[in-house]
Amino acid sequence: MSSTAAREGKKKPHEARGVWIRCTLRGRSSCRKPKFPTSGKINIGCFRLATKMSDNCPRPSFTGASCRPIHEVSFIAGCYLIGFMHRLFRCVPSSRRLKMAVGSMTEKSKAKLSFLFGRRSIRVFAEGDVPDDAVQTLLEAAMAAPSAVAKDPWRFVVIREKEMLRKITEALPNGAMLPSASLGIVVGGDLDAAHDRQLSYLLQDCSAAIENLLLGAHILGLGACWLGVHPRANRMEHIRRLLELPAAIIPVACIAIGYPGEIKEPRTRFDRTRVHYGKWGGSFIATSGTPYP
Ligand SMILES: Cc1cc2nc3c(=O)[nH]c(=O)nc-3n(C[C@H](O)[C@H](O)[C@H](O)COP(=O)(O)O)c2cc1C
Repeated sequence: MSSTAAREGKKKPHEARGVWIRCTLRGRSSCRKPKFPTSGKINIGCFRLATKMSDNCPRPSFTGASCRPIHEVSFIAGCYLIGFMHRLFRCVPSSRRLKMAVGSMTEKSKAKLSFLFGRRSIRVFAEGDVPDDAVQTLLEAAMAAPSAVAKDPWRFVVIREKEMLRKITEALPNGAMLPSASLGIVVGGDLDAAHDRQLSYLLQDCSAAIENLLLGAHILGLGACWLGVHPRANRMEHIRRLLELPAAIIPVACIAIGYPGEIKEPRTRFDRTRVHYGKWGGSFIATSGTPYP
């Protein structure tokens, strides 16, 4: 045996340069022969990494800014690989794809907007009971709405009894269709829960919840119509009495919900004269410099 070989033989395995690597798996440390050269190029997934055994590092490391143990590098490479796979399968939009999506009209965004334009007030209802799980979904949609300081002052009373729906309509001159709907949801707000106990915040929060509820109904293929209650004192008092609302609850609206018995075209009521650019009275200048026709 040569003197070098004898010296190598006395060394602990991981100290035998270029032959052994230390790897840590689930907290256990062991020394074993590397499956790849400790010096040269290796592939981990789609990554090509340079490896070398460093003299001042007791463990082999990948060449780079710092001397890192092999398991750490494998972990980092694994994270990159997962990120890459996510992108590959479109789970995570790349910043380039995000930039493309924002501001440009893709077919998908056109379809989504057309769906939004398709939310219409439905006042004719077909027979059939809307199931409880659909009502639950609508309530979840409503409570996903924005709310000032997330105070969520909205409160909901779900009414299926025809007699009660009929009684409610007595105070709603434009809600005669309510008893023909499968159900009504009275949306109110708790003034004690509203941000700063301000009625305005309560009304804004409840309105956002109502719009979400209407959109949710549209997504589920249901028809719905917002029946105004607030700020008409007689309507509010009538509903307060019928539903035995506590003093702090302000009824805002009643939503008639059911299977649609009429079809309405998607539309927007966009009107250019209602929009001002830069300041009141300012007109639109396209970013290309061409004035809007
Ligand atoms: C505050 C408020 C109160 C409303 N009240 C009633 C109502 O009492 N009866 C009714 O049939 N529609 C009511 N609507 C629905 C509007 O008439 C309807 O949204 C509007 O005509 C636009 O039509 P669209 O919803 O089909 O886009 C109300 C809407 C809002 C926002």
